[in-house]
Amino acid sequence: MDRQPPQQPQQGQAAPLDILILAAGLGTRMRSSTAKVLHKLGGRPLIAHVCRTAAALVKGERPVYVVVGHQAEEVKEAVRAELGEGGAVFVTQTEQRGTGDAVFAARGALASADSTLLVLSGDVPLVRAETLGSLVHQHRTHRGRGAACTLMAVRLEDPTGYGRVVRDEEGRFDRIVEQKDATPEERQISEINVGIYCFETRLLFPALERVRPENAQGEFYLTDVPGILRADGEDVSVYAHTDAREVSGINTRVELSDFERILRLRTLRSLMLNSGVTIIDPQHTYVSPDAQIGRDTTLHPNVHVEGRTVIGEGCEIGQGSRITDSRVGRGVTVKDHCVIVESEIADHCAVGPFAHLRMNARVDEGAAVGNFVEMKKSRLGSKSKAMHLTYLGDAEVGERTNIGAGTVTCNYDGREKHPTTIENDVKIGSDTMLVAPVRVGARSVTGAGSVVTRDVEHDTLVAGVPAKVKKRLQREEEPESKAAESRSDGEGEPVAADASER
Ligand code: UD1
Ligand code: MG
Repeated sequence: MDRQPPQQPQQGQAAPLDILILAAGLGTRMRSSTAKVLHKLGGRPLIAHVCRTAAALVKGERPVYVVVGHQAEEVKEAVRAELGEGGAVFVTQTEQRGTGDAVFAARGALASADSTLLVLSGDVPLVRAETLGSLVHQHRTHRGRGAACTLMAVRLEDPTGYGRVVRDEEGRFDRIVEQKDATPEERQISEINVGIYCFETRLLFPALERVRPENAQGEFYLTDVPGILRADGEDVSVYAHTDAREVSGINTRVELSDFERILRLRTLRSLMLNSGVTIIDPQHTYVSPDAQIGRDTTLHPNVHVEGRTVIGEGCEIGQGSRITDSRVGRGVTVKDHCVIVESEIADHCAVGPFAHLRMNARVDEGAAVGNFVEMKKSRLGSKSKAMHLTYLGDAEVGERTNIGAGTVTCNYDGREKHPTTIENDVKIGSDTMLVAPVRVGARSVTGAGSVVTRDVEHDTLVAGVPAKVKKRLQREEEPESKAAESRSDGEGEPVAADASER
């Protein structure tokens, strides 16, 4: 495109890079009362995606500038969640009068900076840091001395709606014309403005002052600036990108769902190719880009792995299960239709089907949680089991303890929550109600249907409503305790025998 001979690159350091993200618009075409940049993609707001990419470029050395307007507080919140308190500087655009006006709103913060300004749109979420790095590189090395402006462009089969890149007879950049202002001939141009630019900051702001809202939309277009600079005899370069998907913006919910699919399949592909995860039906599997899954783990159809969940190697995640912000160890089986939120499952456990673990439920190594069991703020010790129809809330359960079917920790007295402690090697009989606060000592047994209202000492059999001490259990008396065990176990089977259930 450029016919002039290249010149020697300038000596010395390039101007530092500043980044400005435009995120003040409402996004009318979303038909939403939520600002467009707050709509979620892969479980995170669009603006958070752009912020993460920007952060990778400034590497914490400079803040990221963000123009806010519509739902400014919520947008700031989303930006802070991604970049941390000091990671961003916010600029307010009070009235949304166009992209040029949005950048102009940042003049107080940026106009005097001797920097290269990379302008990004809050609604272009999938652009990669490497691509932006190449754009900046081309901008700085253009004709050996750098350009005044470099804009990213791409060719589209259907360019409808976008600003077109108009070139002169020599193929050099001339100006950008918006769809609504374009002549029928200009609308034939397939090269479009992506909405991502590099500017020399010191040239940008004076040029912006000359932008007039004399166009079909009555807006101040940022897209007029490259043309103004070009007319002034400055160098404007075009970075021609080839991957249109990567750099396209989201304007409608249809586009949002297209992006969701692209991002989802990209994540699943990487899990299969790089992490060695088996995904039986990628069309119906949903894994957050922030999740990690170990080798030889299998995800069955309709599994959702959300947030920053980490799943270890060799696990089996059954269909219809949803795991959010949780940790799952190695060799774990999560059977069908479990909901696991902010919880932890250690190695070699079995959970489900239809289990609900939430608010820091912890299942220790080799333990098992079965059908219709809910755990909240509770811990089930190593090799312990709660296999059927049980609620464990605010409970600490020791090791090798069996919780019989239908057991409930009655943790709420109508005003406050109270803890339940069940020590090691306990057998809680079916349908036991443990009225908290209460403790059951090691190796004790509760009879079926007991309502335990007082602490039970170790090696004690209690039964009844309210539960009373029936006898002290002698640990040597194997046959005795076996008998008590089979009365108290939900299945009428010694515990060891139902290990096969896992
Ligand atoms: C813009 C470009 C167009 C390009 C397209 C690529 C202009 C005039 N046009 O059009 O050439 O092909 O992007 O997707 O720039 N914003 C503000 N304040 C405003 C207006 C917009 O902050 O007053 C923000 C929006 O929140 C959004 C970004 O700027 O993040 C782009 O705005 P949008 O309205 O989507 O511009 P397009 O019409 O898509
Ligand atoms: Mg747009």
